[in-house]
Amino acid sequence: MATALCPGSFDPVTYGHLDIIERTARHFDDVIVAVIRNPQKSQSLFTLEERQELLHESLAHVPNVRIEFFKGLLVEFAKQHGASSIVKGLRAISDFDYELQMAQMNQRLSGIDTFFISTTPQHSFLSSSLVREVARFGGDVSSMVPPIVVERLQGRFREEV
Ligand code: PNS
Repeated sequence: MATALCPGSFDPVTYGHLDIIERTARHFDDVIVAVIRNPQKSQSLFTLEERQELLHESLAHVPNVRIEFFKGLLVEFAKQHGASSIVKGLRAISDFDYELQMAQMNQRLSGIDTFFISTTPQHSFLSSSLVREVARFGGDVSSMVPPIVVERLQGRFREEV
């Protein structure tokens, strides 16, 4: 059975993430969405449990996907779960340098290969950080994230006002 990992911070999940996860699920028996416990990039907006819940709701229609948390090295988590592949989305050439470096490091550490899926062009500008920023200032993100995420973002930023 071929298991793939789709790792990320998912703070919050976007239609760009869902596109990559759904397409990965067509090629592998089993997909684990690996949510990092402590994203290095920034303070998270949503807690781990909230990020998991939003992913869970948004992926309820995909039977061979499950959501797990991880901390430490991704390749150690992959080995523990018998995952032979990592799958990432590439939005633009600007993603490429860092993604290639991580893929090569992960390959060197573990022998686990990374496969890249090109993002659907309508999502190529999309990132969780921009969605957070637009939502924070009251912009419309309903074409970028599922309705439940829109709701949560509105609730979160209403609290801040
Ligand atoms: O959604 P993100 O924040 O771009 O996801 C980045 C993530 C979680 C995939 C990456 O930071 C990661 O794999 N971190 C785990 C730590 C690790 O294994 N580092 C070595 C990678 S070469």
